[in-house]
Formats: sequence, structure tokens, C-alpha cells
Amino acid sequence: MKKQDIANMRREYNSPSSADLKSGFAPVALSRHWYQQALRVVSVLRHEYRHGLVETKAPSNPFELFRHWFREAVRAKLLDPNAMTLVTVTSARKPAVRTVLLKDFDTRGFVFYTNYQSQKGRELIGRPYACLLFYWPTLVRQVRVDGKVEKVPAKESDAYFHSRPRGSQLSAWASDQSRTVPHREHLEKRMELFEKRFKGKPVPRPPHWGGFRLVPDKMEFWNGRPNRLHDRLRYIKVTSSRWRRERLAP
Ligand SMILES: Cc1cc2nc3c(=O)[nH]c(=O)nc-3n(C[C@H](O)[C@H](O)[C@H](O)COP(=O)(O)O)c2cc1C
Repeated sequence: MKKQDIANMRREYNSPSSADLKSGFAPVALSRHWYQQALRVVSVLRHEYRHGLVETKAPSNPFELFRHWFREAVRAKLLDPNAMTLVTVTSARKPAVRTVLLKDFDTRGFVFYTNYQSQKGRELIGRPYACLLFYWPTLVRQVRVDGKVEKVPAKESDAYFHSRPRGSQLSAWASDQSRTVPHREHLEKRMELFEKRFKGKPVPRPPHWGGFRLVPDKMEFWNGRPNRLHDRLRYIKVTSSRWRRERLAP
């Protein structure tokens, strides 16, 4: 593809509608031809970013900034704004990655729920350090969180478990998460088994299922800016209530 064609495609990609400009978001309706060409030359996917993250406006507490950004991600009606990438460390000291959903957060940390006997569950119990990553493309924002992980108290897991739909409660019993299974019917049979076992009764929380809270000692906020001169503010925990803030080169 010619240089001029690539430049034109990038311009089209970065020409938001007036509604987009008002909201500050960047999605643009592009032609079928544009997409066909983009599949050939992926480098046309080059967004120019408009927002800024400046020290004078950023709060001194990272949870406050997270709350603000998360609220904007929810308001923007993103699909699963609470989806986050979770990185753990295996027993062979290698990284392992998957997505989980944030179910609660406050100044104590970020809570997600899972099977304690799954791969991640065993890894977190064995080596209780992890990283989380939120990426909100429409807002051109990313948040990185590093810290130590602990199980949430049983009462907290109970409360969340009992707020879940019954089908999800049953599948927490039926699925030995991360184990190999012979075929799908095996899972469906186990689901029927637990449906029968708990028929007409409330489903109790399985002892192997519950929450983890990642207690951050570092949080970094990345905000896309023009010319790839993005903003990065990192907060490092100094005491239980005090954080040091620093700017990183993009
Ligand atoms: C959008 C999304 C949300 C997910 N949320 C969770 C979750 O909250 N808890 C969970 O255990 N697995 C969740 N999963 C499935 C995990 O990514 C993963 O497949 C599963 O937990 C097994 O991971 P493991 O074998 O590393 O333990 C989610 C997957 C996706 C794509």
C-alpha cells in the first residue's frame, strides 16, 4: 500500500464524529473497504489520543483516581469494564495469565472470585503475589496494579456467593476449574447431579470457592496522548495511608 493511502486511512481512523468529540471517545464508523485494507496493513490502526493526566488534577491517593476512571469506564457503557487481566506466578516461577472480573474494591484492595483449587487458586495460595491490568480501549486508558494477595474472609465470600444467580452457584460445584474433562457432557451431567442434590434448598458456597483480595503496593495509570507522548503516573505505597507519586516516561 502507498504511503499516502496509509496516511489517508489513518486520518479516517482518527476523524471522530462531533458526538465522539463531545464525549472525548474515539470510535469512528469506517467503511467495509477500510476494514478490508486494514487487515492487509495493520499499522493503519494508529490512534491519536486526546485526554491528559496531569499532576495538578490527579489525586494523591490512587484509589481515588481508580474510582474516578472506573466510574468513567462504567458510564461509557464499555463491555465488561470490570474485566481485568490477572498475572500469577507458577511453581516453576513462570508467569501465568487470564481474565477475571473485579467484584469489589475499596482502599483495602481489589476483589475477585474463583475456585481456590484452580490453577490460579493454587498459584495464589503458593505464591501470593500478583498483577492486575485494566485496559479500557475506548477511553485509551490502562491501569496496572501490583501487590500481595490474600483470601477474603469466609463471610465476605458467602455474601457474594449468595448474591449470584442459582445457575452460577451450581456451576461452582459442578466445575473442577482447570482440571481436564473428557467431554462437555461430563460437565452437564455434573450440573444435573448438583441440581438434584440441592433441589428445593439454598445452594451453599463450596469450600473450594471464594474471593481473593489483591492489596496493592504499586499502581500505575496510563493515559494515551498525541504523538505517543502518553501520560504515566505511578503510585508507590509508602505507609498504609501514604503514597508517593511519580511520572514515568511513556
Ligand atoms: C471476561 C472474562 C471474565 C472472567 N471472569 C472470571 C472470574 O471472575 N473468575 C474466574 O475464576 N474465571 C473467570 N474467567 C475465566 C478465566 O479467564 C480462566 O479461564 C479460568 O478462571 C481458569 O483460569 P486458571 O486455569 O488460570 O485458574 C473469566 C474469563 C473471561 C474471558
